[in-house]
Amino acid sequence: MAVHNFNAGPAALPASVLAKFRDSLIDTDGTGMSVLEWSHRSPEYDRVRFDAEARLRRLLGLPGDDSWAVLFLQGGASLQFAQIPLNLADSARPGHYLVTGVWAKKALEEAERLQRGRSLWSGKSENFCALPPNGVRFAADGAAYVHLCTNNTIYGTQWAELPDTGAVPLVCDMSSDILSRPRPFEKCSLIYAGAQKNLGPSGLTVVALRRSLLDRQAAGIPAILDYRAHVEADGLYNTPPTGAVYLMGLVLAWIEEEGGLTKVGARNRQKAARLYDTIDRSGFFRGTAARDSRSDMNVTFRLPTEALEKSFLERAEREGMVGLKGHRSVGGIRASLYNAVELVSVEALVSVMHEFASAHGAKF
Ligand SMILES: Cc1ncc(COP(=O)(O)O)c(C=O)c1O
Repeated sequence: MAVHNFNAGPAALPASVLAKFRDSLIDTDGTGMSVLEWSHRSPEYDRVRFDAEARLRRLLGLPGDDSWAVLFLQGGASLQFAQIPLNLADSARPGHYLVTGVWAKKALEEAERLQRGRSLWSGKSENFCALPPNGVRFAADGAAYVHLCTNNTIYGTQWAELPDTGAVPLVCDMSSDILSRPRPFEKCSLIYAGAQKNLGPSGLTVVALRRSLLDRQAAGIPAILDYRAHVEADGLYNTPPTGAVYLMGLVLAWIEEEGGLTKVGARNRQKAARLYDTIDRSGFFRGTAARDSRSDMNVTFRLPTEALEKSFLERAEREGMVGLKGHRSVGGIRASLYNAVELVSVEALVSVMHEFASAHGAKF
């Protein structure tokens, strides 16, 4: 039976990429060795990382000059929650945080622990179901940066447009929507993402930052956490997650072959719209995110009772659907529709939703 993978992360990877990875695993690129056995200082690995970086720069639309640095790090997005304030803020000039969910809150808490962060806006009183209105200008006096999370994985909300922060650098956690749609990267000064949703496997974190930020960096932080140490060592300060970078390179090549972010973004829109339409027309399912904050990546909804949610999940599981249970902190249902999730999986889910809701009296 086909499995429909709606996991929130680690999540679905393109089947063709996995097949390529399998085929190249034992003897990668004709070297007689696996990529997992290569030295990270070998010309073979140089080719892989430079190719992955070039693809990433193209897809993100970063300028061709040297004004941005791209780093392949470890420690997940969670390590960035600490690394960003350590590098870019201090107690006199803290980072300002838009708290749109638990991940954004964790980022703030980490900065607060270091006395380098404060809240600029919080959606907690509305259970994080809505984002600040589009077009709001967040100019934060005395801020080292404004931090936001572009897609809130748990609540199914996503910034449609990035806000204007004036001269204050905008720092974005893009863990759950990086490369899922075109974004005006020129508005940002630092973006970061754990790879395990749209980029590849877990264990790799991508950070892209304007080199100008390095000039204002704080002194006296551990070298491993210092962006400058990584930039100065040309990405080889310590052993990078070589296998994960290789697999990400295959995913990035796949995105380019699929037609880049415009095409992938349109497909993601179509997949999400199919589910939101089903939810809205059913009178049975209830979307949990405010309409103008809805995410194309994580579609969250409830059924009339928790007992019905349990039996809906069991029904979907029998059809080979995995990962639909909402995050443990909020319950309900969450369908994660990252780049590699195909429309057929969404159609299969829609069909179960129709059947289940109709059996409980809904009329579409
Ligand atoms: C938006 C967002 N930020 C941060 C994280 C934490 O990422 P990690 O587990 O890589 O530290 C997650 C995890 O799901 C996430 O969805």
